[in-house]
Amino acid sequence: AEDSTFIQAERQGPVAIVRLDRPKALNALCDQLTRELSAVLDAVEADDSAGAVVLTGSEKAFAAGADIKEMQPKGFSDVFLEDFITSSWERAATLRKPIIAAVSGYALGGGAELAMMCDFIIAAESAKFGQPEISIGVLPGAGGTQRLARSAGKAKAMDMVLTGRTIDAWEAERIGLAARVVPTDSLMQAATEAATKIAGFSRPAVLMAKESVNRAFETPLAEGLRFERRMFHAAFATEGQSEGMAAFLDKRDAEYTHR
Ligand code: CAA
Repeated sequence: AEDSTFIQAERQGPVAIVRLDRPKALNALCDQLTRELSAVLDAVEADDSAGAVVLTGSEKAFAAGADIKEMQPKGFSDVFLEDFITSSWERAATLRKPIIAAVSGYALGGGAELAMMCDFIIAAESAKFGQPEISIGVLPGAGGTQRLARSAGKAKAMDMVLTGRTIDAWEAERIGLAARVVPTDSLMQAATEAATKIAGFSRPAVLMAKESVNRAFETPLAEGLRFERRMFHAAFATEGQSEGMAAFLDKRDAEYTHR
């Protein structure tokens, strides 16, 4: 990430902490920022020593959405031909390693959508979520209508997408958008602790678990259950299964090779 302008990446043990850093525009997701984010996530995915990611912003803003200044002059052929927005943003959604969104302040429009691409959201008490695209003549274009409807249900998705209303952290947790709410000054500690815990488990099991939960949103129940069972069986081919169960029986901590 040395050559990134708008992304700061650092490591805390096995956890990659990836910070959106474009304070002048409240981390608005301009083209350069999303390309840099995608490259940083590629590097984390390829790095065997990284077991989980925390994606965060500043205290004031996780991200205030797609960059309106960049979008305003675009026409249909521009956005259609470049497949705006999915092409550069979706890396967070396709990452195989777990990724937690640590959200403080504004997560609006594409910012909320980026947070929803992560596996789960830990919200600071200061967090504000919204899909205000309707107020600027468009609609969510990076999964907002779909992921919000799946996590929060039709009533809340329609309310937020059609009115553009912003909700606070507690409402976000109540509706299933955020997994937890924590005091704002302990956001990074809570997110890093969760990511460290995940990174400490057997990596094949973690990746299989993530992939299985994601199946729930893509397949009918019977297919999802079958997929889960086959993944469960596959876990018995990993070193983590024999070590994890042996450690339990020996009353000691497991030592995973992550293979
Ligand atoms: N794009 C570009 N610039 C943005 C931005 C955005 N989404 N959000 C904020 N900024 C810029 C502002 O233009 C301002 O820049 P200047 O200082 O150069 O004027 C700077 O960030 C600070 O913002 P404000 O002065 O507005 O700060 P505030 O505290 O008064 O208000 C806010 C904060 C309520 C978040 C307000 O900035 C805001 O409403 N932002 C836009 C939110 C929005 O509509 N997001 C959806 C974008 S569309 C989208 O995301 C499409 C999609 O689905 C993918």
